[in-house]
Amino acid sequence: MRKSIFILLLSAFLPAALQAQDIVLEEGLLHKGDDPAWKGPGVDESDWLTVSTTRHWTPQGVGGEYDYGWYRLKAVFPESMRRSAPYRDAIIISMLGGVDDSEETFLNGTLVGKTGSMPEDQTGFLSAWNWPRRYLVPADLVRWGEENLIAIRVYNGADAGGIHGDAVRVSMAGLEDLLGMTIREREQSVDINFSPMTSVKGMVRLEVTDAATSSISAVMSRKVRLKKGSPAQISFPLDLHRQTILRITFTDTGKGISATRRYVPKYILTPEAPASPRYNGPLAYGARPGSPVIFRLPFSGTMPMHFTAEGLPEGITLDAENGILQGATTREGRHAITLQATNSEGSVSQSFTLVIGPDAMALTPPMGWNSWNCWGTSVSQEKVISSARAILSSGLADYGYAYINIDDAWQAPQRSDDGTIVPNDKFPDMKGLGDWLHANGLKFGIYSSPGSLTCGLYTGSLGHEQADAQTYNAWGIDYLKYDWCVYQDEFNRLGDYSLEGYILPYRVMQTHLRAQPRDIFYSLCQYGMADVWKWGASVGAHSWRTTPDITDSWASLYEIGFGRQKDLYPYAGPGHWNDPDMLIVGKVGWSSSLRDSRLTPDEQYTHISLWNLLAANMLIGCDVAQIDSFTLGLLCNHEVNAVGQDLLGRQARCVLDDGTFQVWARPLADGSTAAGIFNLSGEDRRADIKAMLEQAGIRAEGPIRDLWRQEDLHDTTCIIPTHGVRFLRLK
Ligand code: GAL
Repeated sequence: MRKSIFILLLSAFLPAALQAQDIVLEEGLLHKGDDPAWKGPGVDESDWLTVSTTRHWTPQGVGGEYDYGWYRLKAVFPESMRRSAPYRDAIIISMLGGVDDSEETFLNGTLVGKTGSMPEDQTGFLSAWNWPRRYLVPADLVRWGEENLIAIRVYNGADAGGIHGDAVRVSMAGLEDLLGMTIREREQSVDINFSPMTSVKGMVRLEVTDAATSSISAVMSRKVRLKKGSPAQISFPLDLHRQTILRITFTDTGKGISATRRYVPKYILTPEAPASPRYNGPLAYGARPGSPVIFRLPFSGTMPMHFTAEGLPEGITLDAENGILQGATTREGRHAITLQATNSEGSVSQSFTLVIGPDAMALTPPMGWNSWNCWGTSVSQEKVISSARAILSSGLADYGYAYINIDDAWQAPQRSDDGTIVPNDKFPDMKGLGDWLHANGLKFGIYSSPGSLTCGLYTGSLGHEQADAQTYNAWGIDYLKYDWCVYQDEFNRLGDYSLEGYILPYRVMQTHLRAQPRDIFYSLCQYGMADVWKWGASVGAHSWRTTPDITDSWASLYEIGFGRQKDLYPYAGPGHWNDPDMLIVGKVGWSSSLRDSRLTPDEQYTHISLWNLLAANMLIGCDVAQIDSFTLGLLCNHEVNAVGQDLLGRQARCVLDDGTFQVWARPLADGSTAAGIFNLSGEDRRADIKAMLEQAGIRAEGPIRDLWRQEDLHDTTCIIPTHGVRFLRLK
């Protein structure tokens, strides 16, 4: 059993003059380990340590990953705090900086909040290390005028652990909290639901701003009478295809107090695809001489469709019914091909280049799906097949999403007697899975680590690299994500901290991958260490992760997408790409329990626009079987995707940053420029598009194309909502 480490606690109050009656707990008692009795009274605290609640526990001398710890914070909640508040029904306990990683909070022995999940939970461990917590707690759990105990049980999966960033705070709940207001959009309306924790009579006012025209398009109001504990709902009509900003104000008519919520409903900008055939993919595809070619022609339109291709080199054939290019050829060169797709609504012809050459792989960034951001370690063959089927049936495959990649947690704990890697019982038939994917024109990806174990502590490739590469070939693997993680132990053992030490494990696997008679996309994952972008291509990598893991929060998207990409544009190009991690749209969760992405609709438009500008890998991270029309709209806009799949392969750079807006732009193969104008401020802002482009040094001759709406821009001033984007193409 782990020996307990001890810590202590203390409660602290800010002087009333400083802050109206809020209780700020900057210190507390801490004890490593886990005992349910620690949530309540009667605990011997003589061996607990006093720690700050604003800093992780490790720098305060309390180590240990994969471990629990408990805080006990005590404070008198004065009667005056309740008396002076306009509403007395509830308090708020908040930890706004986050808790590393997951936590359960108890007030006087009763569980009042939980964020993330613990390893023993049914869903498995889910880190919520940087999520702010704000728990609404009924006031009758408080002992007014007496000492109260806030006990916080924390699990630390990795890194520093504990409450950090901001102190634990207690305050009286205001009107906004007590209304329990949630907003839900339906096809043609927006529903405002209340679960009130106070009884109140008031007025709800809805103001609708049309972002594209920057004008208020509607104002509606209704009277409501809310009864504590009785849910209520009111609905207003709404158009899902406009980009609107809603401002919902509830006014307590008795007290004259108002609470306002800003809300942007999911809006779908991508126009519906025509019923006649349309090509939505890259204008070239490449393979090495002799390697199997698998390319499902990304045409949308009514099925069935019939395909022909003229100019195919010997060895490559077209499945005319399913539109899959297949076979292998040793004829090196650029083969000009004319594709033709025909359905009941019409026929279209498309020029296309098939490039065969030793460096012809990954001419454009990969598009597909990966299991990690949705299923985490709960991935199974069934779940992979379910998303792959949905890629085909939802039409995503008609936009070029082709790789189906299993991330961590497919490996059995033991290799077979001859050292061959074996899948665990969640993956009964790897070869069969590969064959099925290929038969449908999809590709098969897998994950491993150069370490003895992977990040999720599954079997890694250390010492078995050649055998693993051969096994991948036998299963028909087309993509390997190779994740550093536990290789750190080997790295330390070898003790070579020079650049060569970082490169070594990736070079070893490269040699064995290259020896296989098929093209295996080589994706490095080591979070950007030793400036991987400077040497990734030299070890045959087709992409390299440039950052730590992404999560579905604005902070993470901002840091990874904007913060860390600014200087990386020189390193991307056809065959070798910077990888800012997988997509966080749709239903994600990193576990068996999924939720909608916590990004707002505008943040999701920003995410997809930016990733296309960055020429990033486009790996969908959600359960595709549960995909909704909003997410499909984000992923299936052929004008938007054409930027990411542009053959020039130049990554965008930031050409203007005025503190509110950033403009990122990249040149495209046809001489035009793609530019994203991003509002990175916390406010909705009016933008003069032409002036801003000019300021960024981008001159437009002729109309400016609005890529999401697939039309030329009419209004050159518009509102770009907070964290939103205008994504443009200019001649
Ligand atoms: C991390 C990696 C994630 C995921 C995970 C699996 O190191 O960055 O993308 O692959 O390991 O355990």
